[in-house]
Amino acid sequence: MMSKYTQDPNYIYYENTNIPINKLNIRNHDVIEDEERKLLTKGYEYFHKKLSESTAFDEQYFKELHRKTFSKLYAFAGKYRTVNISKGYSTFCQVRFLEQTSKEIFKKLQFENYLRDYSTKTKEEFARKIAFYMCELIALHPFFELNGRITRLFFDMIATYNGYEYIDYQDALKIEDGYNLFIKASIDCMTGEDNKMYRILLSGLKKSE
Ligand SMILES: Nc1ncnc2c1ncn2[C@@H]1O[C@H](COP(=O)(O)OP(=O)(O)OP(=O)(O)O)[C@@H](O)[C@H]1O
Ligand SMILES: [Mg+2]
Repeated sequence: MMSKYTQDPNYIYYENTNIPINKLNIRNHDVIEDEERKLLTKGYEYFHKKLSESTAFDEQYFKELHRKTFSKLYAFAGKYRTVNISKGYSTFCQVRFLEQTSKEIFKKLQFENYLRDYSTKTKEEFARKIAFYMCELIALHPFFELNGRITRLFFDMIATYNGYEYIDYQDALKIEDGYNLFIKASIDCMTGEDNKMYRILLSGLKKSE
C-alpha cells in the first residue's frame, strides 16, 4: 500500500518516518537536525552579509531564504507546498489559495515599505507590525517544512535592517508540557489573534549597540 505512494511528489518523507527525503540520504533524526542547524547558521551568515539599504523583503526574498539555506539538503527548498497541512487542530492555508494569499500578504508588506522604516520608531510599534505579519505567514505555512525557522529568519533580517539584534526566542521556544509559547502564539495566529506573538516579540527585541 505504501509503495504505491512513494513516487508521489507530494509525499516528502521516507516511508513511515517524519524525516524528509533528503539529498544526503540521512535517515537519522539527530543527524538531520544537526545538518539543518548547520545550514540555518550558514543561511543567517549569508543573508546577514547580503543585507543592504536596498534589500526588499518581498516574496522572492522570502522564498530565497528557504531555497538558499536548504537546497543542499532538500529538493523542496524554496518551493511552496503542494499539499494541505495541519498541525494539532490548526489547518494552514489551503493549497488552492496559497499563491494568492501569499501575494496579498507581501503586497501589504510592500505598502509598508517592507517595514524598513522602524529604526526611529518605538519597539512597541515595531513589535506590533512584526506580530501582524508573522501571524499571517504562520497561518500561511507555505513550505512543506522549516516554516518556523524561515519565518523567524525573515523577521530577524528585518530586525537587523532596523538596527536590532536577532530576535531572542529562547524563552518562547523552550518546551513546557509539549507546547512552547511560540506554538501557543501560533495557534492564536490562526484566528488573527496576535497578542501572544506581540509579547514574545516585545521581550525578544533588543536594539544593537
Ligand atoms: N498547532 C499549531 N497551530 C498553529 N501553528 C502551529 C502549530 N504547531 C506548529 N505551528 C507553527 O508551525 C511552525 C512549525 O512548522 P515547521 O515544522 O514547518 O517549521 P520548523 O522550522 O520546524 O519550526 P520550529 O523550528 O518552530 O519548530 C511553528 O514554528 C509554528 O509557527
Ligand atoms: Mg518542524
